[in-house]
Amino acid sequence: MSATDIHLHRILIIDFGGQTTQLIARRVRECGVYCEIHPWDLHAETITDFAPTGVILSGGPESTIEAGSPTIAQALLDLNVPMLGICYGMQAMVNQLGGVVEAHRGESEFGYALMNVSGECSLFDGLNDSAGSEVQLDVWMSHGDRVASLPAHYTLVGTSDNAPIAAMANEEQKRFGIQFHPEVTHTKQGAEILRRFVLEVCECAGDWTPGNIIDNAVAEAKAKIGDERVLLALSGGVDSSVVAALLHRAVGSQLTCVFVDHGLLRLNEGDQVMQLFAENLGIHVIRVNAEARFMNALSGVTDPEAKRKVIGNLFIEVFEEEAKKLTGTTWLAQGTIYPDVIESAASSTGSAHLIKSHHNVGGLPEHMALKLIEPLRELFKDEVRRIGVDLGLPAKMLYRHPFPGPGLGVRILGEVRADYAQILREADDIFIQLLRKHDLYDKVSQAFAVFLPVKSVGVTGDGRRYDYVVALRAVETLDFMTARAAHLPHEFLDEVSRTICNSIPNVSRVTYDISSKPPATIEWE
Ligand code: XMP
Repeated sequence: MSATDIHLHRILIIDFGGQTTQLIARRVRECGVYCEIHPWDLHAETITDFAPTGVILSGGPESTIEAGSPTIAQALLDLNVPMLGICYGMQAMVNQLGGVVEAHRGESEFGYALMNVSGECSLFDGLNDSAGSEVQLDVWMSHGDRVASLPAHYTLVGTSDNAPIAAMANEEQKRFGIQFHPEVTHTKQGAEILRRFVLEVCECAGDWTPGNIIDNAVAEAKAKIGDERVLLALSGGVDSSVVAALLHRAVGSQLTCVFVDHGLLRLNEGDQVMQLFAENLGIHVIRVNAEARFMNALSGVTDPEAKRKVIGNLFIEVFEEEAKKLTGTTWLAQGTIYPDVIESAASSTGSAHLIKSHHNVGGLPEHMALKLIEPLRELFKDEVRRIGVDLGLPAKMLYRHPFPGPGLGVRILGEVRADYAQILREADDIFIQLLRKHDLYDKVSQAFAVFLPVKSVGVTGDGRRYDYVVALRAVETLDFMTARAAHLPHEFLDEVSRTICNSIPNVSRVTYDISSKPPATIEWE
């Protein structure tokens, strides 16, 4: 039986630089429809090659009225497929199709608004958030400029206080413009509006489901790899774990994973990875115990960036040594996911700014002359997790907080030593276990302990102590670009502090980090 063609129907999302463009893509995917994000100045051939079933134009920070502002490619306007313009996307449609956008005069509309629905529109018919006689929708707005007059053949279908033309439709051409953001949850019917656009207006089949994604990825990997051998650097993190499970399903024993234990993992993590993959899932995993090598290489290195480089380079060295032993291997698998693809495209245009070199430990040694296979390249993190569940990986592992490639190496300030790492592992484990016990683990986005190599005085029943300090860090964030310290209950922090000081002899003091990002970062180094 051949796998369903999950790319048959596809939505092209044009990015005008909006904060929530990725969110639009995730909502479309949640409807079971494949989509890709491309910049507004994409090549005409990209449009032809992509052959979209429908087009969504994102919001953006600029003003369509200003000279040189981003525009909709003519090739898109010439396509005879449904189109939905959101915020800036709507204003760009109006501007280019003969309507009028006027500059804001201090009447910007940000945040929650009520939109009165008028006339008929296949996106809104039958939807109503109001208990009264009027048909109203709760929407989330973020605009300065507004539409002053409609292009020909468009009808007005929605009005808000500060946007007399908040929604427009051309049902015949299946083109729509909405001033509000349907992708954010504050727009109550937003998901339904997007669902109607992609499933009803564009008539996409909704075949982009976890089961079909797995079948496709397995079929594709089988066809590519044939009877050759494939190598994967398994870190135990979500992405490489899902790649391991997927490729194992595709090519079984032709897959070999190399798991490098650099001695900077969390408590029992190495054993857990081996137990799950090698023992439970029957995947061939080579464990390399390289703690001593990493500790030697890190000896005397105190600068955070230098530490990252030492860890990243040594990781590749160890990995390559193992790879050389596996003769006949022609493929290298990687856990690249769709946000990595989008972000590296953005950084190649120079918009990303380096704050820390985020070594993707396990990253590709470029000169290895292996062919690259990246089965998760089209998937968002939440999709990776969902297929991970279907592939039989434990949810507890798939929904774990992120853990940086250099591991505890960036959580031990200054020089990394094996004894510091052991103290930190124990403190971190106490913190995480107690978060789980009090049902707080899933309420924070990331939590961990940090080892401070300074000593402070303490006192216990049998006298004076002079021991190390552990800092606790727990943050709430959506995108890890900005974050705030989680407001954990004092009683809870008190319990964590007491447990750590009572059970780890080398720690006399525990602090809680209350900094947000910015100005701090999430990790301490
Ligand atoms: P920062 O500290 O930059 O962290 O606010 C943001 C997110 O990135 C993770 N992080 C890393 N991940 N290699 C990684 O794979 C790294 O070197 C690295 N540094 C930070 C961090 O844990 C947080 O989730």
